[in-house]
Amino acid sequence: MTEKKRNLERLTGVKGMNDILPRDVSLWFFFEKTVTSILHSYGYQNIRTPILEYTSLFRRGIGEVTDIVEKEMYSFIDSLNGKKLTMRPENTAAIVRAAIEHNLLYDGPKRLWYIGPMFRHERPQRGRYRQFHQVGVEALGFKGPDIDAEIILMCQRLWGDLNLTGIRLELNSLGHKQERAAHRDQLIAYLERYIELLDDDSKHRLYTNPLRVLDTKNPALQDIAANAPKLIDFLGNESLAHFEGIQSLLSENNITFTINPRLVRGLDYYNMTVFEWVTDKLGAQGTVGGGGRYDPLINQLGGKPALACGWALGVERILELIREDQIVVPSEEGCDVYIVHQGAAARSFAFVVAEQLRDAGLDVILHCSSDDVLVSFKSQMKLADASGAAYAVILGDDELQRDEVSIKSLRSDRTSGDNIQQRVPGKRLSEFLTNLIVTRSGKY
Ligand code: HAM
Repeated sequence: MTEKKRNLERLTGVKGMNDILPRDVSLWFFFEKTVTSILHSYGYQNIRTPILEYTSLFRRGIGEVTDIVEKEMYSFIDSLNGKKLTMRPENTAAIVRAAIEHNLLYDGPKRLWYIGPMFRHERPQRGRYRQFHQVGVEALGFKGPDIDAEIILMCQRLWGDLNLTGIRLELNSLGHKQERAAHRDQLIAYLERYIELLDDDSKHRLYTNPLRVLDTKNPALQDIAANAPKLIDFLGNESLAHFEGIQSLLSENNITFTINPRLVRGLDYYNMTVFEWVTDKLGAQGTVGGGGRYDPLINQLGGKPALACGWALGVERILELIREDQIVVPSEEGCDVYIVHQGAAARSFAFVVAEQLRDAGLDVILHCSSDDVLVSFKSQMKLADASGAAYAVILGDDELQRDEVSIKSLRSDRTSGDNIQQRVPGKRLSEFLTNLIVTRSGKY
Protein backbone atom coordinates (compact mmCIF):
# COMPACT_ATOMS: atom_id res chain seq x y z
CA MET A 1 0.00 0.00 0.00
CA THR A 2 1.36 3.42 -0.87
CA GLU A 3 1.93 5.97 1.89
CA LYS A 4 -0.78 8.21 0.41
CA LYS A 5 -3.34 5.37 0.41
CA ARG A 6 -2.39 4.39 3.94
CA ASN A 7 -3.00 7.96 5.08
CA LEU A 8 -6.52 7.85 3.64
CA GLU A 9 -7.41 4.52 5.23
CA ARG A 10 -10.35 4.75 7.62
CA LEU A 11 -9.18 4.68 11.22
CA THR A 12 -11.07 2.78 13.91
CA GLY A 13 -11.17 2.85 17.70
CA VAL A 14 -9.15 0.42 19.81
CA LYS A 15 -10.71 -3.04 20.18
CA GLY A 16 -12.71 -3.38 23.39
CA MET A 17 -12.84 0.40 23.93
CA ASN A 18 -16.21 1.86 23.03
CA ASP A 19 -17.45 5.24 21.88
CA ILE A 20 -20.43 6.49 23.84
CA LEU A 21 -22.56 8.17 21.19
CA PRO A 22 -25.14 10.96 21.64
CA ARG A 23 -27.97 8.42 21.24
CA ASP A 24 -26.72 6.58 24.35
CA VAL A 25 -26.18 9.64 26.46
CA SER A 26 -29.72 9.81 27.92
CA LEU A 27 -29.11 6.40 29.48
CA TRP A 28 -25.72 7.41 30.90
CA PHE A 29 -27.16 10.66 32.32
CA PHE A 30 -30.10 8.81 33.85
CA PHE A 31 -27.74 6.37 35.56
CA GLU A 32 -25.24 9.04 36.64
CA LYS A 33 -27.94 11.32 38.06
CA THR A 34 -29.61 8.47 39.94
CA VAL A 35 -26.41 7.09 41.43
CA THR A 36 -24.88 10.46 42.38
CA SER A 37 -28.08 11.52 44.10
CA ILE A 38 -27.94 8.33 46.21
CA LEU A 39 -24.24 8.75 46.99
CA HIS A 40 -24.86 12.30 48.21
CA SER A 41 -27.87 11.20 50.22
CA TYR A 42 -25.54 8.94 52.25
CA GLY A 43 -23.00 11.75 52.75
CA TYR A 44 -20.28 10.40 50.42
CA GLN A 45 -17.80 12.88 48.93
CA ASN A 46 -16.58 12.79 45.36
CA ILE A 47 -12.87 12.17 44.70
CA ARG A 48 -11.10 12.15 41.32
CA THR A 49 -7.71 10.55 40.80
CA PRO A 50 -5.61 10.26 37.61
CA ILE A 51 -5.96 7.44 35.11
CA LEU A 52 -2.20 6.79 35.19
CA GLU A 53 -0.49 5.54 38.35
CA TYR A 54 2.88 3.95 39.00
CA THR A 55 2.66 0.23 38.24
CA SER A 56 4.03 -0.60 41.69
CA LEU A 57 0.80 0.73 43.27
CA PHE A 58 -1.29 -1.99 41.64
CA ARG A 59 1.34 -4.71 42.10
CA ARG A 60 1.47 -4.01 45.82
CA GLY A 61 -2.22 -3.16 46.18
CA ILE A 62 -4.07 -5.74 44.09
CA GLY A 63 -1.53 -8.56 44.52
CA GLU A 64 1.12 -10.11 42.24
CA VAL A 65 -0.76 -13.39 41.78
CA THR A 66 -4.04 -12.05 40.43
CA ASP A 67 -5.38 -12.11 36.86
CA ILE A 68 -5.38 -8.32 36.80
CA VAL A 69 -1.71 -7.90 37.68
CA GLU A 70 -0.47 -11.01 35.86
CA LYS A 71 -2.26 -10.52 32.55
CA GLU A 72 -4.63 -7.59 32.31
CA MET A 73 -2.82 -4.35 33.01
CA TYR A 74 -2.04 -1.78 30.34
CA SER A 75 1.48 -0.88 31.46
CA PHE A 76 4.24 1.00 29.67
CA ILE A 77 7.49 2.79 30.35
CA ASP A 78 7.38 6.59 30.55
CA SER A 79 9.84 7.52 27.80
CA LEU A 80 10.80 10.70 29.67
CA ASN A 81 12.08 9.08 32.84
CA GLY A 82 11.95 5.31 32.40
CA LYS A 83 9.33 4.87 35.14
CA LYS A 84 6.73 2.11 34.80
CA LEU A 85 3.16 3.41 34.52
CA THR A 86 -0.19 1.62 34.40
CA MET A 87 -3.64 2.73 33.25
CA ARG A 88 -5.76 2.06 36.32
CA PRO A 89 -7.46 -1.36 36.16
CA GLU A 90 -9.51 -0.42 39.25
CA ASN A 91 -9.62 2.51 41.65
CA THR A 92 -9.44 1.23 45.22
CA ALA A 93 -5.63 1.20 45.34
CA ALA A 94 -5.48 4.70 43.83
CA ILE A 95 -8.02 6.13 46.30
CA VAL A 96 -6.04 4.68 49.18
CA ARG A 97 -2.83 6.11 47.68
CA ALA A 98 -4.46 9.55 47.42
CA ALA A 99 -5.88 9.33 50.97
CA ILE A 100 -2.40 8.56 52.33
CA GLU A 101 -0.66 11.17 50.18
CA HIS A 102 -3.08 13.96 51.22
CA ASN A 103 -3.53 12.73 54.78
CA LEU A 104 -7.31 12.64 54.24
CA LEU A 105 -7.95 10.68 57.43
CA TYR A 106 -6.29 13.25 59.72
CA ASP A 107 -9.63 14.43 61.10
CA GLY A 108 -11.51 11.15 61.08
CA PRO A 109 -12.93 8.55 58.72
CA LYS A 110 -13.97 9.44 55.18
CA ARG A 111 -16.76 8.31 52.90
CA LEU A 112 -15.63 8.74 49.27
CA TRP A 113 -17.05 7.98 45.83
CA TYR A 114 -15.77 8.05 42.25
CA ILE A 115 -16.89 7.31 38.73
CA GLY A 116 -14.75 6.88 35.63
CA PRO A 117 -13.02 4.65 33.11
CA MET A 118 -10.88 1.65 34.09
CA PHE A 119 -8.71 -0.45 31.78
CA ARG A 120 -8.17 -4.20 31.67
CA HIS A 121 -6.67 -6.19 28.82
CA GLU A 122 -9.36 -8.89 28.79
CA ARG A 123 -10.93 -10.71 25.86
CA PRO A 124 -13.83 -8.43 24.87
CA GLN A 125 -17.35 -9.85 24.85
CA ARG A 126 -20.83 -8.71 25.90
CA GLY A 127 -20.41 -6.91 29.24
CA ARG A 128 -16.61 -7.27 29.20
CA TYR A 129 -14.56 -4.47 27.70
CA ARG A 130 -10.99 -3.22 27.77
CA GLN A 131 -12.11 0.26 28.70
CA PHE A 132 -15.12 0.14 30.98
CA HIS A 133 -16.56 2.40 33.66
CA GLN A 134 -16.96 1.88 37.35
CA VAL A 135 -18.79 3.84 39.97
CA GLY A 136 -17.41 3.04 43.39
CA VAL A 137 -17.38 3.95 47.06
CA GLU A 138 -14.55 3.63 49.55
CA ALA A 139 -15.31 4.12 53.25
CA LEU A 140 -11.95 4.66 54.94
CA GLY A 141 -11.36 4.42 58.69
CA PHE A 142 -14.51 2.53 59.73
CA LYS A 143 -14.50 -0.77 61.62
CA GLY A 144 -17.93 -2.13 60.68
CA PRO A 145 -20.07 -4.12 60.44
CA ASP A 146 -22.46 -1.12 60.26
CA ILE A 147 -20.50 0.52 57.43
CA ASP A 148 -20.42 -2.82 55.54
CA ALA A 149 -24.21 -2.90 55.78
CA GLU A 150 -24.50 0.79 54.80
CA ILE A 151 -22.59 0.38 51.55
CA ILE A 152 -24.70 -2.65 50.64
CA LEU A 153 -27.90 -0.75 51.42
CA MET A 154 -26.82 1.98 49.00
CA CYS A 155 -26.64 -0.55 46.16
CA GLN A 156 -30.03 -1.99 47.07
CA ARG A 157 -31.48 1.53 46.95
CA LEU A 158 -29.84 2.05 43.57
CA TRP A 159 -31.48 -1.08 42.12
CA GLY A 160 -34.81 0.24 43.43
CA ASP A 161 -34.37 3.75 42.03
CA LEU A 162 -33.33 2.34 38.65
CA ASN A 163 -36.29 -0.07 38.73
CA LEU A 164 -33.98 -3.03 38.21
CA THR A 165 -35.08 -6.46 39.28
CA GLY A 166 -33.41 -9.85 39.67
CA ILE A 167 -30.10 -8.71 41.16
CA ARG A 168 -28.99 -11.08 43.93
CA LEU A 169 -26.56 -10.42 46.74
CA GLU A 170 -23.94 -13.06 47.56
CA LEU A 171 -21.98 -12.70 50.76
CA ASN A 172 -18.96 -14.37 52.35
CA SER A 173 -16.32 -13.68 54.95
CA LEU A 174 -12.62 -14.17 54.28
CA GLY A 175 -11.76 -13.70 57.96
CA HIS A 176 -8.37 -12.52 59.19
CA LYS A 177 -4.96 -13.37 57.75
CA GLN A 178 -4.19 -16.07 60.37
CA GLU A 179 -7.55 -17.73 59.76
CA ARG A 180 -6.89 -17.76 56.02
CA ALA A 181 -3.41 -19.22 56.66
CA ALA A 182 -4.85 -22.15 58.67
CA HIS A 183 -7.46 -22.76 55.98
CA ARG A 184 -4.85 -22.46 53.24
CA ASP A 185 -2.75 -25.35 54.59
CA GLN A 186 -5.73 -27.68 54.62
CA LEU A 187 -6.95 -26.42 51.25
CA ILE A 188 -3.58 -27.10 49.62
CA ALA A 189 -3.45 -30.60 51.16
CA TYR A 190 -6.97 -31.26 49.84
CA LEU A 191 -6.26 -29.92 46.34
CA GLU A 192 -3.00 -31.89 46.11
CA ARG A 193 -5.09 -35.06 46.28
CA TYR A 194 -6.67 -34.01 42.94
CA ILE A 195 -3.57 -32.52 41.32
CA GLU A 196 -3.88 -34.73 38.24
CA LEU A 197 -7.36 -33.38 37.57
CA LEU A 198 -6.57 -29.69 38.02
CA ASP A 199 -6.32 -27.45 34.94
CA ASP A 200 -3.18 -25.37 34.26
CA ASP A 201 -4.63 -22.25 35.83
CA SER A 202 -5.53 -24.07 39.05
CA LYS A 203 -2.14 -25.81 39.20
CA HIS A 204 -0.51 -22.42 38.83
CA ARG A 205 -2.59 -21.02 41.70
CA LEU A 206 -2.30 -24.08 43.95
CA TYR A 207 0.67 -22.81 45.97
CA THR A 208 0.49 -19.09 45.18
CA ASN A 209 -3.20 -18.30 45.69
CA PRO A 210 -5.17 -21.50 46.40
CA LEU A 211 -8.34 -19.64 47.44
CA ARG A 212 -8.70 -18.55 43.83
CA VAL A 213 -8.90 -22.22 42.76
CA LEU A 214 -12.28 -22.30 44.52
CA ASP A 215 -13.44 -19.51 42.23
CA THR A 216 -12.77 -21.59 39.09
CA LYS A 217 -15.31 -21.41 36.27
CA ASN A 218 -14.11 -24.75 34.82
CA PRO A 219 -17.17 -27.09 34.93
CA ALA A 220 -14.90 -30.15 35.40
CA LEU A 221 -13.60 -28.73 38.70
CA GLN A 222 -16.90 -27.70 40.26
CA ASP A 223 -17.27 -30.82 42.45
CA ILE A 224 -13.70 -30.55 43.69
CA ALA A 225 -14.21 -26.87 44.55
CA ALA A 226 -17.60 -27.49 46.17
CA ASN A 227 -16.24 -30.17 48.53
CA ALA A 228 -13.06 -28.31 49.49
CA PRO A 229 -12.52 -27.19 53.12
CA LYS A 230 -14.53 -24.01 53.69
CA LEU A 231 -12.87 -20.89 55.02
CA ILE A 232 -15.93 -20.07 57.07
CA ASP A 233 -15.22 -23.14 59.23
CA PHE A 234 -11.85 -21.62 60.18
CA LEU A 235 -13.17 -18.25 61.36
CA GLY A 236 -12.57 -17.29 65.00
CA ASN A 237 -15.06 -15.56 67.31
CA GLU A 238 -14.26 -12.00 66.24
CA SER A 239 -14.61 -12.70 62.51
CA LEU A 240 -17.80 -14.69 63.09
CA ALA A 241 -19.28 -11.90 65.22
CA HIS A 242 -18.51 -9.37 62.45
CA PHE A 243 -20.04 -11.63 59.83
CA GLU A 244 -23.15 -12.27 61.93
CA GLY A 245 -23.37 -8.53 62.66
CA ILE A 246 -23.60 -7.61 59.01
CA GLN A 247 -26.09 -10.38 58.34
CA SER A 248 -28.45 -9.14 61.07
CA LEU A 249 -28.19 -5.54 59.84
CA LEU A 250 -29.02 -6.66 56.31
CA SER A 251 -31.96 -8.75 57.48
CA GLU A 252 -33.31 -5.91 59.65
CA ASN A 253 -33.22 -3.76 56.51
CA ASN A 254 -35.05 -6.37 54.44
CA ILE A 255 -32.07 -7.17 52.24
CA THR A 256 -32.04 -10.77 51.13
CA PHE A 257 -28.72 -12.47 50.49
CA THR A 258 -27.18 -15.89 50.12
CA ILE A 259 -23.94 -16.94 51.74
CA ASN A 260 -21.57 -18.25 49.10
CA PRO A 261 -18.58 -19.88 50.84
CA ARG A 262 -16.70 -19.99 47.52
CA LEU A 263 -16.91 -16.25 46.92
CA VAL A 264 -13.29 -15.03 47.11
CA ARG A 265 -13.11 -12.04 44.67
CA GLY A 266 -10.32 -11.48 42.16
CA LEU A 267 -8.21 -8.98 44.09
CA ASP A 268 -5.95 -9.88 46.99
CA TYR A 269 -6.58 -6.95 49.31
CA TYR A 270 -9.80 -8.29 50.83
CA ASN A 271 -10.38 -9.63 54.32
CA MET A 272 -13.55 -10.28 56.35
CA THR A 273 -16.74 -9.30 54.45
CA VAL A 274 -16.81 -9.80 50.68
CA PHE A 275 -19.89 -9.57 48.47
CA GLU A 276 -21.05 -9.54 44.86
CA TRP A 277 -24.23 -8.46 43.11
CA VAL A 278 -25.17 -10.99 40.44
CA THR A 279 -27.85 -11.30 37.76
CA ASP A 280 -28.83 -14.10 35.36
CA LYS A 281 -29.91 -11.63 32.68
CA LEU A 282 -26.48 -10.81 31.24
CA GLY A 283 -25.09 -14.20 30.30
CA ALA A 284 -21.51 -14.97 31.33
CA GLN A 285 -20.76 -11.46 32.66
CA GLY A 286 -23.48 -11.49 35.30
CA THR A 287 -21.58 -9.81 38.13
CA VAL A 288 -22.76 -6.21 38.16
CA GLY A 289 -20.62 -5.21 41.11
CA GLY A 290 -18.63 -6.34 44.07
CA GLY A 291 -16.59 -5.28 47.02
CA GLY A 292 -15.84 -5.87 50.66
CA ARG A 293 -13.46 -4.97 53.47
CA TYR A 294 -9.79 -4.40 52.82
CA ASP A 295 -8.52 -3.57 56.28
CA PRO A 296 -4.78 -4.24 55.68
CA LEU A 297 -4.50 -2.18 52.46
CA ILE A 298 -3.95 1.32 53.85
CA ASN A 299 -1.05 0.09 55.97
CA GLN A 300 0.24 -2.09 53.13
CA LEU A 301 0.50 1.01 50.91
CA GLY A 302 2.46 2.94 53.52
CA GLY A 303 -0.33 4.66 55.52
CA LYS A 304 -1.08 4.53 59.23
CA PRO A 305 -3.19 1.39 59.81
CA ALA A 306 -6.88 2.17 59.24
CA LEU A 307 -9.79 -0.10 58.42
CA ALA A 308 -11.74 0.23 55.19
CA CYS A 309 -14.38 -1.18 52.87
CA GLY A 310 -15.98 -0.36 49.55
CA TRP A 311 -17.50 -1.55 46.31
CA ALA A 312 -17.39 -0.86 42.59
CA LEU A 313 -20.19 -1.41 40.08
CA GLY A 314 -19.71 -2.00 36.36
CA VAL A 315 -21.60 0.84 34.67
CA GLU A 316 -21.86 -0.80 31.22
CA ARG A 317 -23.33 -3.94 32.80
CA ILE A 318 -25.94 -1.94 34.69
CA LEU A 319 -26.86 0.01 31.55
CA GLU A 320 -27.22 -3.28 29.70
CA LEU A 321 -29.62 -4.42 32.43
CA ILE A 322 -31.64 -1.21 32.09
CA ARG A 323 -31.92 -1.94 28.36
CA GLU A 324 -32.70 -5.60 29.02
CA ASP A 325 -35.50 -4.65 31.45
CA GLN A 326 -36.78 -2.07 28.91
CA ILE A 327 -36.83 0.68 31.48
CA VAL A 328 -37.92 4.00 30.00
CA VAL A 329 -35.40 6.75 30.76
CA PRO A 330 -35.99 10.50 30.42
CA SER A 331 -34.64 11.82 27.13
CA GLU A 332 -31.72 14.22 27.28
CA GLU A 333 -31.77 14.66 23.53
CA GLY A 334 -33.10 17.78 21.88
CA CYS A 335 -33.28 21.24 23.33
CA ASP A 336 -36.03 23.81 23.81
CA VAL A 337 -35.57 26.01 20.77
CA TYR A 338 -34.00 25.90 17.31
CA ILE A 339 -33.63 29.32 15.70
CA VAL A 340 -33.92 29.51 11.91
CA HIS A 341 -33.08 32.72 10.09
CA GLN A 342 -32.25 34.10 6.67
CA GLY A 343 -30.24 37.14 5.59
CA ALA A 344 -27.39 39.03 7.26
CA ALA A 345 -29.60 41.27 9.39
CA ALA A 346 -31.70 38.33 10.61
CA ARG A 347 -28.55 36.42 11.50
CA SER A 348 -27.27 39.25 13.70
CA PHE A 349 -30.66 39.48 15.37
CA ALA A 350 -30.75 35.69 15.79
CA PHE A 351 -27.55 35.81 17.86
CA VAL A 352 -29.13 38.43 20.17
CA VAL A 353 -32.34 36.42 20.52
CA ALA A 354 -30.43 33.18 21.18
CA GLU A 355 -28.44 34.77 24.01
CA GLN A 356 -31.60 36.32 25.50
CA LEU A 357 -33.34 32.96 25.52
CA ARG A 358 -30.30 31.31 27.11
CA ASP A 359 -30.30 34.08 29.75
CA ALA A 360 -33.90 33.06 30.46
CA GLY A 361 -32.73 29.48 31.08
CA LEU A 362 -33.75 27.88 27.78
CA ASP A 363 -31.55 25.54 25.73
CA VAL A 364 -31.12 26.97 22.25
CA ILE A 365 -29.58 25.79 18.97
CA LEU A 366 -28.82 28.57 16.52
CA HIS A 367 -28.83 27.52 12.87
CA CYS A 368 -25.31 27.96 11.47
CA SER A 369 -24.25 27.86 7.83
CA SER A 370 -21.57 29.52 5.78
CA ASP A 371 -22.23 32.99 4.35
CA ASP A 372 -22.11 31.85 0.73
CA VAL A 373 -24.81 29.18 1.05
CA LEU A 374 -28.39 30.29 1.36
CA VAL A 375 -30.26 27.53 3.16
CA SER A 376 -34.00 27.71 2.52
CA PHE A 377 -36.40 28.02 5.46
CA LYS A 378 -37.80 24.64 4.47
CA SER A 379 -34.40 22.95 4.80
CA GLN A 380 -33.70 24.75 8.05
CA MET A 381 -37.07 23.59 9.43
CA LYS A 382 -36.12 20.01 8.54
CA LEU A 383 -32.88 20.41 10.51
CA ALA A 384 -34.84 21.97 13.38
CA ASP A 385 -37.17 19.00 13.42
CA ALA A 386 -34.30 16.50 13.32
CA SER A 387 -32.53 18.28 16.18
CA GLY A 388 -35.29 17.21 18.57
CA ALA A 389 -36.00 20.81 19.63
CA ALA A 390 -39.46 21.55 21.05
CA TYR A 391 -39.95 24.85 19.18
CA ALA A 392 -38.63 26.58 16.11
CA VAL A 393 -38.17 30.34 16.33
CA ILE A 394 -38.26 31.86 12.85
CA LEU A 395 -36.55 35.13 11.95
CA GLY A 396 -36.95 36.44 8.40
CA ASP A 397 -37.16 39.87 6.73
CA ASP A 398 -40.85 40.07 7.41
CA GLU A 399 -40.43 39.40 11.14
CA LEU A 400 -37.50 41.80 11.34
CA GLN A 401 -39.49 44.66 9.79
CA ARG A 402 -42.35 44.20 12.25
CA ASP A 403 -40.05 43.59 15.21
CA GLU A 404 -41.74 40.23 15.70
CA VAL A 405 -40.70 36.60 15.82
CA SER A 406 -42.58 33.53 14.67
CA ILE A 407 -42.80 30.44 16.83
CA LYS A 408 -43.76 26.97 15.70
CA SER A 409 -44.17 23.94 17.85
CA LEU A 410 -42.20 20.98 16.49
CA ARG A 411 -43.34 18.30 18.88
CA SER A 412 -47.04 18.85 19.52
CA ASP A 413 -49.90 16.69 18.40
CA ARG A 414 -50.59 17.83 14.81
CA THR A 415 -54.34 17.36 15.21
CA SER A 416 -54.70 19.60 18.26
CA GLY A 417 -53.89 22.72 16.30
CA ASP A 418 -51.20 23.99 18.67
CA ASN A 419 -48.57 23.52 15.98
CA ILE A 420 -49.91 26.54 14.14
CA GLN A 421 -47.30 29.22 13.67
CA GLN A 422 -47.71 32.14 16.09
CA ARG A 423 -46.16 35.60 16.09
CA VAL A 424 -45.12 37.47 19.19
CA PRO A 425 -43.39 40.81 19.63
CA GLY A 426 -39.59 40.37 19.88
CA LYS A 427 -39.60 41.85 23.41
CA ARG A 428 -42.04 39.25 24.70
CA LEU A 429 -40.33 36.20 23.20
CA SER A 430 -38.41 34.98 26.28
CA GLU A 431 -41.41 35.30 28.56
CA PHE A 432 -43.76 33.72 26.01
CA LEU A 433 -41.51 30.74 25.30
CA THR A 434 -40.62 30.16 28.94
CA ASN A 435 -44.33 30.00 29.81
CA LEU A 436 -45.03 27.63 26.93
CA ILE A 437 -42.18 25.32 27.89
CA VAL A 438 -42.97 25.29 31.60
CA THR A 439 -46.63 24.46 31.04
CA ARG A 440 -45.92 21.83 28.34
CA SER A 441 -43.02 19.92 29.84
CA GLY A 442 -42.94 20.95 33.48
CA LYS A 443 -39.28 21.67 32.78
CA TYR A 444 -38.50 23.78 35.81
P1 HAM B 1 -14.01 -5.87 40.52
O1 HAM B 1 -14.85 -7.02 40.94
O2 HAM B 1 -12.72 -6.19 39.85
O3 HAM B 1 -13.76 -5.00 41.82
O4 HAM B 1 -14.82 -4.91 39.56
C1 HAM B 1 -16.08 -4.39 39.95
C2 HAM B 1 -17.07 -4.48 38.80
O5 HAM B 1 -16.54 -3.85 37.63
C3 HAM B 1 -17.35 -5.90 38.34
O6 HAM B 1 -18.30 -6.53 39.18
C4 HAM B 1 -17.91 -5.65 36.94
O7 HAM B 1 -19.28 -5.30 37.01
C5 HAM B 1 -17.10 -4.47 36.48
N1 HAM B 1 -16.05 -4.91 35.56
C6 HAM B 1 -14.87 -5.47 35.89
N2 HAM B 1 -14.16 -5.75 34.79
C7 HAM B 1 -14.90 -5.36 33.73
C8 HAM B 1 -14.70 -5.37 32.31
N3 HAM B 1 -13.58 -5.82 31.75
N4 HAM B 1 -15.71 -4.88 31.53
C9 HAM B 1 -16.86 -4.40 32.08
N5 HAM B 1 -17.08 -4.36 33.41
C10 HAM B 1 -16.12 -4.83 34.22
C11 HAM B 1 -12.99 -3.89 41.86
O8 HAM B 1 -12.59 -3.30 40.88
C12 HAM B 1 -12.77 -3.36 43.24
N6 HAM B 1 -11.96 -2.14 43.15
C13 HAM B 1 -14.10 -3.09 43.94
C14 HAM B 1 -13.91 -2.55 45.33
C15 HAM B 1 -13.98 -1.26 45.71
N7 HAM B 1 -13.62 -3.25 46.40
C16 HAM B 1 -13.51 -2.43 47.42
N8 HAM B 1 -13.72 -1.22 47.01
